[in-house]
Amino acid sequence: MLADKHILLIVGGGVAAFKALDLLRRLREQGAHVTPVLTKAGAEFVTPLSLSALSASKVYQDLFDLTDEAEMGHIELSRAADLIVVAPATADLMAKMTHGLANDLASTLLLATDKRVLIAPSMNVRMWNHPATQRNLTTLKDDGVLVVGPDDGAMACGEFGPGRLAETPAIIAAIDAALSDGPLNGKHILVTSGPTHEPIDPVRYIANRSSGAQGTAIAKALVALGADVTFVTGPADVAPPVGVNVIAVQTAKQMLDAVNAAAPADAAVFAAAVADWHVANAGDSKIKKDKSGLPTLEFVENPDILATVSQLKSGRPALVVGFAAETDDVIANATAKRLRKGCDWILANDVSPETGIMGGSENDVTLITADGAEDWPRMSKDATAVALAARIAKAIT
Ligand code: C5P
Repeated sequence: MLADKHILLIVGGGVAAFKALDLLRRLREQGAHVTPVLTKAGAEFVTPLSLSALSASKVYQDLFDLTDEAEMGHIELSRAADLIVVAPATADLMAKMTHGLANDLASTLLLATDKRVLIAPSMNVRMWNHPATQRNLTTLKDDGVLVVGPDDGAMACGEFGPGRLAETPAIIAAIDAALSDGPLNGKHILVTSGPTHEPIDPVRYIANRSSGAQGTAIAKALVALGADVTFVTGPADVAPPVGVNVIAVQTAKQMLDAVNAAAPADAAVFAAAVADWHVANAGDSKIKKDKSGLPTLEFVENPDILATVSQLKSGRPALVVGFAAETDDVIANATAKRLRKGCDWILANDVSPETGIMGGSENDVTLITADGAEDWPRMSKDATAVALAARIAKAIT
């Protein structure tokens, strides 16, 4: 996929800049031609020499370098590539891109290009969470900029949270997807997956047996068709796929907030097994067993994420897909559920224990649309996902 592709790699100034060297090496291993552009701040973290040695290319740094202009003007440099990748994309670079500033080589190239741009943000968690950066992110996405990461985790600055540069395989998967001529290229698709955990107190929670396998497989199949996938996942057993924007949540309420924050989307697939209730009187500290008899848990209904999104008056995805895990009267219940929730399609399945579907590797679904019920053969969750992704591509392109 990457063989003979031309990638312009803009290396911004952040502690993660050293990871751009690994990215560069892996891209070259897969046959890509990489032209590095190093910002002034980036040069504080990696040397032009390392970049040129690994890329076997000239490293471009200065807008006013006349030799560069004679060899290749900045307009040509920005358009000769198949894809522009910014890794790490700092808060400053994102802000420049958002506002169309062009006061150095990197920002000028980004403004002058007619090619797709993929950014891999990396910064301190507070900088990432700052409303200014989040506003910029929304604008950039609206402008069609592709985004991979950042990941959650411990940061070089000692803090913890979102802000780490996505891992190299995830960036490469995103590059692959951006360069693929998939039918879902340029489409943003939201996928929810896994169970939710609803706290009883700080150490106990209510959960369900969802493994996240089907949602993960769907996200993977959509990425393979070129989609830009936001993957909102509860605490699942299965690791999230690479090449998607992972938003990890615990509760139904957090899942709804993450889904709202990910809007707008061209399509949404709600594969999560969301808890129907949460504990209204959850303890702020661990509930003691010797207090005064057994605790009484009071439940309140969780927001129905699928119904909320399906019934949006504005900004509703063109296609909303839900699941109906049933144990009896599967088709009748799922058909009624489609109408009740207002989604376009429902994938209905029988999750009675004897089917082995819940937590297993196979699924046996019936696709319910406005046109009726269509029985799909029992097949692996991966194959079910591939079939669904193909149907989605047909419906929204
Ligand atoms: O009502 P039920 O839980 O059977 O509906 C299943 C479908 O609704 C699934 O697609 C699930 O992801 C979605 N759902 C949701 N929010 C809830 C409950 C279910 O998005 N609170």
